[in-house]
Amino acid sequence: MTNSSIFPADFLWGGATAANQIEGAYNEGGKGLSIQDVMPKGITTPRTEGPTDDNLKQVAIDFYHRYAEDIALFAEMGFKTFRFSIAWSRIFPLGDETEPNEEGLAFYDRVIDECEKYGIEPLVTMSHYETPLHLTETYDGWVNRDLIGFYERYARVLFARFGSRVKYWLTFNEINSVLHAPLMSGGINTPKDQLSKTDLYQAIHNELVASALATKAARELAPNAQVGCMVLAMPTYPLTPDPDDVMASLTTERTNLAFGDIHVRGEYPGYYLRSLRDQGVELAITDEDRALLKEYTVDFVSFSYYMSIAETADESKRVIGEGNIMGGVSNPTLQASEWGWQIDPVGLRVVLNQFWDRWQKPLFIVENGLGAKDKLVEVDGQKTVLDDYRITYLNDHLVQVGEAIDDGVEVMGYTPWGCIDLVSASTAQLSKRYGFIYVDRNDDGTGTLDRYKKKSFGWYAEVISSNGASL
Ligand code: BG6
Repeated sequence: MTNSSIFPADFLWGGATAANQIEGAYNEGGKGLSIQDVMPKGITTPRTEGPTDDNLKQVAIDFYHRYAEDIALFAEMGFKTFRFSIAWSRIFPLGDETEPNEEGLAFYDRVIDECEKYGIEPLVTMSHYETPLHLTETYDGWVNRDLIGFYERYARVLFARFGSRVKYWLTFNEINSVLHAPLMSGGINTPKDQLSKTDLYQAIHNELVASALATKAARELAPNAQVGCMVLAMPTYPLTPDPDDVMASLTTERTNLAFGDIHVRGEYPGYYLRSLRDQGVELAITDEDRALLKEYTVDFVSFSYYMSIAETADESKRVIGEGNIMGGVSNPTLQASEWGWQIDPVGLRVVLNQFWDRWQKPLFIVENGLGAKDKLVEVDGQKTVLDDYRITYLNDHLVQVGEAIDDGVEVMGYTPWGCIDLVSASTAQLSKRYGFIYVDRNDDGTGTLDRYKKKSFGWYAEVISSNGASL
C-alpha cells in the first residue's frame, strides 16, 4: 500500500507521557502525595504505608526540571502534539481543598509555554493513575461519591487556567482499567480481593458522572476545547469459530466497550445493565446523574492500543496469557514482547474500524508502542540505541492506521507511548523502555539522566516530515 496521501494534512503526530512516570520532584512545588508514591513496584506488589526510597518515580526522568530540553527534542522530531498529564496532587495536594496550589499551576504554564514556542499542541490527561493519596486513604477513592465534586472543582480550575491554550483534553486515562487495577486506576484503597462488586461498579459510575461534569465545565469555561474519553482498547477474538467462543469473546469485549458506549451515547447499554443484574449489583444513580451522562457526551474517543486478546467458553482452554494484564486467553498465532504482550498490528486496524462503526466519533490513538530492553552503543562517537525492533513495531502499526484511514475511519492523530523513556506503570521499571529518546537511568536508580537519540528518533522524524509517506 502507498500511504503518500492517506494521512490527513492536519494529522496530529506526537508522543505521550504521564506526570508520575516522567516528572519526579514528587515532593517539590507544594505537590501532595499521590497513590504512585506508595506503589514503588507498580501493580506487581501491594501498596506500601508511605513513600519509600526504592520508588523510581520519586525522580522518574526528572522532567520537572528538564522539560525545556525534552520538549526541544520533541520539536526536533517535528511533533505536532505532546500528550502529558497534569498531576492532580500538584494542583490540589490533598484533593479535597477549595483553593488550588499556584506553584503547581505555574509549572504547567511553563510546560505549555514551551509547547507553544514550537507550535506543539498540548494534549492533556486530567487523571492518569495519580489520584491524590489523601483521597484514597480518607475516602477510598472513587468508591465515594464525594470524589465527583473534588474532581469537578479540579476540572474547573484547569479549564479556567489553561482552557484558552489547551484544545484537547482527556478526562481519565484508560478508564476501563479500574476493572483490573482498582488502586492504580480508581484510587481505591480497599484491596482488590476484598472489594465488593457493588463498590467497584459504583466507583465506575462515579467516574463516569465526573467525566460528564468535566465536559460540562469545558463547555462553560473553554468553549473551543474538545473533550475525549480514554479507553484501553483490547480487541477480543474468539479462540475458535465455535459460536460459544464467539459469544464469550463478545461478552468479554463488552466489559471494555461499555465505557465508550456510555461516554458516546450517554446511557448504560442493556447488556451492561443485565451484567449488573446478573452480578447482583444495585447502583445508586440519581436522575441528575442520568441527565448529565446524556447531555455531556464526548467530542472524540481516544484509546491506548498494545495488544489483542482471545477468549473461549471452554474452561479447559482458558489459559490466561502471561502479559494479559486485562485477562484474556493467548492467541496462538501471535508473537509477544519480552513482557508477554502479544503483538498484533492488524488488531489496530480492527479496533479503529470497530470504534468508528460503533460510535462515529473521531478517534485519537494516544498510546501504542513496544516496551523493550535497549542497549546503549557508540556509533561515530555518538551514544545511541539501534532499536530496529521498535521501528518495525511502530511502522507495522502505522501501516495499519493508514489502512484504517483508507477504510474511511476518521483518525485525529497518533501519540506513541513513552516518546522519551520513562518509568513503567505496571512494573515500575525503567528498563522497560518505549522511547525515541534514551534516558540514562537504571532500575537501581543509578545513571546520569542524560538523554540520547535512538535510531528510531530519526525514523519518526522522517515519518512526521513526510506525513506518513515514508512508512
Ligand atoms: C498504559 C498506561 O496502560 O500503558 C501507561 O496508560 C503505561 O501509563 C503504558 O505506562 C505501558 O504500560 P507499562 O506497564 O509497560 O508501563
